[in-house]
Amino acid sequence: MKRYRLLVLFFLIANAISGWAQTEKPDDFLPMDFHQDRREALRAKMPPNSVAVFFANPVRNRSNDVDYHYHQDPNFYYLTGHTEPHAVLLIFKEKQQVNAESFDEIIFVRGHDALKELYDGGRLGKEGARKTLKIDVTFEGSDFKEYNIDFSKFDKVLFYDFHNDVRDTKEDGDLYDLIATFKQKINYPDEKEMTIEVEPAENKLDTKSLDKMMKSLRGIKTEEELELLRKAVKISALGQAEVMKAMHPGMSELEVQGMHEFIYKKYQAEHEGYPSIVGAGHNGCVLHYIENYKPKIEDGELILMDLGAEYHGYTADVTRTLPVNGKFTKEQKIIYDLVYEAQEAAMAICKEGTTFKELYAATARVINQGLVELGIYKSLQKEDIINPATGRNRYYPHGCTHHIGLDVHDLGENDTLRAGMVITIEPGIYIPEGSPCDPKWWNIPVRIEDDFLITEEGYELLSDLAPRRSEEVEALMAQPSSFENITLPSLEE
Ligand code: GLY
Ligand code: MN
Ligand code: MN
Repeated sequence: MKRYRLLVLFFLIANAISGWAQTEKPDDFLPMDFHQDRREALRAKMPPNSVAVFFANPVRNRSNDVDYHYHQDPNFYYLTGHTEPHAVLLIFKEKQQVNAESFDEIIFVRGHDALKELYDGGRLGKEGARKTLKIDVTFEGSDFKEYNIDFSKFDKVLFYDFHNDVRDTKEDGDLYDLIATFKQKINYPDEKEMTIEVEPAENKLDTKSLDKMMKSLRGIKTEEELELLRKAVKISALGQAEVMKAMHPGMSELEVQGMHEFIYKKYQAEHEGYPSIVGAGHNGCVLHYIENYKPKIEDGELILMDLGAEYHGYTADVTRTLPVNGKFTKEQKIIYDLVYEAQEAAMAICKEGTTFKELYAATARVINQGLVELGIYKSLQKEDIINPATGRNRYYPHGCTHHIGLDVHDLGENDTLRAGMVITIEPGIYIPEGSPCDPKWWNIPVRIEDDFLITEEGYELLSDLAPRRSEEVEALMAQPSSFENITLPSLEE
C-alpha cells in the first residue's frame, strides 16, 4: 500500500514537472495551415478510393542510451509539422464515415509518459496533436492495433516501402509496432513475393506512386517555404563571407567549420543541413570530405568549404573555395576562373523551360574546353576526358544541379526548370596529386555552389551575400574580421 502511494506521488510530481518543462520555440516555423494545405494538395493528386500512409522517421541509436539527434522524415514533416518520432499518418482520398464521424485523415502519435517527458521534454499526445496539428482524428500509437480499418476496401494503398532497420524499443505502439501492425492489416507480402516487380497499375499495394506525387509537390516551393529557405541560404552565405575575412594559414579545418556553424547558431539555424565539408589542399579533392581533421592549413593552399545551414527544417547548400593566404596563385586563379565561367554559362540559361541536363551540359562544355586549352586534357575525345576507373569526367566528376528544401538533395522532378523550384548550380574542378597532367596543377580543388529560385522571369540568386568572382573574394579576404578579437589560451600552458 505504502509502495503504491509512493508510486502515485512519483507520477504526480513527474507529471507536474513535465508540464512545467514546456519548451520555448521560435514563432516563425511553418504555420499549421501550411501543412494542412499540403495534405489537401496531396489528396487532390491521389487516385479515387485510395489511402496514403506515412510513417515518422525512426530514432537512431548512437550508442548505449544515447540516440542521434532526432530528425523527422521530411515527407512526414511536410504533411504534418509533427517533429516527434513513433507516429503514422493516414490520408484518405474521400471522407470516411465511421458511426457519426466523418473524417479524411488520422494520425497516431506517442502517448504521454511522465518519466520520459521528464528527460526529453513534453510530448504532444493525442489531445495536443488534435489541437496543434489541426488533424481532427488523433489516437495513440498503441491504439493502432485495435483500430478497425479495412485496407482491403481501398483500390490503392499508397506507401513508401519499408527499410528493415527499425528497432523495437519495447514501448507499446512504437514505430516498430506501427509498421508491424500496418503490414499485418494490409497482408504485406513476405520478402520473396515483394522481389517480384509488379506494376503499380495492377497492384493494390502501391509503393511507387506516392514518391511521384510528393516529388511534384515538394519540388515547387510555396511562399512560406521560400521564406525559410531564403533565410537558410542567407545565413550560409553570410557564414562564407565572414570566414573569408577570418581565414589565414595555420587555422585548422575544424576551426573553420566551427566559425561557419557558430554563425548558423547565432542566427538561430538549429542544424547543419548535411555534414560540413571543409577540405584544404588535397582534402578538397574528396567530394564529400567530412572528417575536417587537418590541424594546420598551409600557406598557399586552397580551402574548399561546402556547408549549409538548416533553418527550421530547410537547408541551404553553398560552396566557396578560397586561397588560404588571401591571394590565388596563377594556376589556382586560372582554374577558379574557369569554374566561375562554367557557373556563369549555366546561369545564362537558368530559366523556366531549361532542362537539368542542359544546365550540366553548359558547365561541362566550358570546363572541358578550358581544360583542353590549358593542356590538362589532351583532347575533347571521350578517352581523354573520362576516367575509366570511375566512369566519370576525370576532373569534373559530379552533377551540377539538384533541388534544395527539407533535404539538401531535395525531392523534386529533375527534368525541366519551373518557377518555384529552388536549385543549386555547382560546377567544380578537382585535380588530385598524381593526375596525368603537369604537376603544377596538382592539388587544386575548386567548387563554386550557389542557390537559385527559379522565377517567371529567370532566377533569383539567393546566396549573393558571398562573393563569387576571384577578385571579389580576394578583396573581401583583405577586410578585417570579427573573429580576430577572439583569443583563447593555449591548452599547452
Ligand atoms: N553538399 C552536397 C552537394 O553539394 O550536393
Ligand atoms: Mn549541392
Ligand atoms: Mn554542396
